[in-house]
Amino acid sequence: MLGIVRDIAGLRARVQAWRQDGAVVGLVPTMGALHEGHLALMRQSLATTERTCVTLFVNPRQFGPAEDFALYPRDEARDLEMIETAGAHLAFAPTMAEMYPEGHQTEVALRPLGDILEGEFRPGFFTGVATVVAKLLLQAQPDVAFFGEKDFQQLRVIQRLVRELDIPVEIVGVPTARAPDGLALASRNAYLSEPERAIAPALHRVIVEVAANVAAGKDAKTEEARAVQALKTAGFARVDYVAVRDAETLEEPQKSHSLRRVLAAAWLGRTRLIDNVVV
Ligand code: PAJ
Repeated sequence: MLGIVRDIAGLRARVQAWRQDGAVVGLVPTMGALHEGHLALMRQSLATTERTCVTLFVNPRQFGPAEDFALYPRDEARDLEMIETAGAHLAFAPTMAEMYPEGHQTEVALRPLGDILEGEFRPGFFTGVATVVAKLLLQAQPDVAFFGEKDFQQLRVIQRLVRELDIPVEIVGVPTARAPDGLALASRNAYLSEPERAIAPALHRVIVEVAANVAAGKDAKTEEARAVQALKTAGFARVDYVAVRDAETLEEPQKSHSLRRVLAAAWLGRTRLIDNVVV
C-alpha cells in the first residue's frame, strides 16, 4: 500500500526510518499530471535505490503572473494510482501552507544560469524551481534525486544549486521520454489541439537536424537561424529560441571541443513547448 504524507514531519519520519534500516532513498519531484516521462524517473529510482518517494506539488512560485498556474492539470487521485502501480513507496503531497507558510521570504536564485534561455522568457521561473527543489531536498533528505533531461536547463540549475549549497544528495538526469513521433512527453501537451499535435514533432525533428549539422562542422549561428525559419514554416507561431550551447554552463560555447547541446522553445497557439538534444 502506498503511503501518503502531507507534512514535513511525517515525511522525515518515514525517510529516516528507511535510512535507519540501511535503505538507499530516491526522490522524484513532480508537479503531478503524471505521464510516461515521470514514470521513467520513478523506474530509474526503483531500479537503483531501495525506497522511492514521489512528490506532488504544483509550485506557484515557478509560474509567471500570465502563466497557467490556475489551469495546470491536477488529478491527485489518478497520480496516486500511477505512483502506486509503478511500485513507489511513498507520495509526499504537501499543502500550500506546509510548503509556503504565510510570510515565507527565502528565495534561491542562480545568476546567470537562471536568467538565460528559459529564464529570459520566463523571468523568475528558475528562482521558483530552485527554491522549491532546495526545500524538497532538505525536507526529504534523500540519497539520490531524479530529474528529466527534458528540462535540461532545470537539470543544470539543480545540479549547480546542490553543489553550491552543499546539499548532500546525488542528482541523476534521466533521458527524455518521447512519443513514437519524437515529441517529448509533457503535461502541457494536453493543451494541444489535434492540428497542433500534428505539427509538434517538428520541434524535435528540427533540433536533431541542427545537432547533426553542427556535429558535421557547420556554423552554429547559421543553423540556429535556419531552424527558427524551419519551425515557423512548420506552423509554430512564435519561436523563443533555438540555441547551441555549452552542455555544462549553457552559455555560448567557448571551446570548439566542449560538449554541446541544442535547446529550443517555441509556441503552438497558446502552448509553449521545449526540447533539447545532445550535439
Ligand atoms: P514536472 O514538469 O512535473 O516534471 C517532473 C520531472 O519529470 C522533471 O524532472 C522533468 O524533467 C521530468 N520529466 C517531464 N517530462 C519528461 C519526459 N518526457 N522525459 C523525462 N523526464 C521528464 O519539472 C517540474 O515538474 C518542476 O519544475 C519540479 C522540478 C517538480 C519543481 O517544481
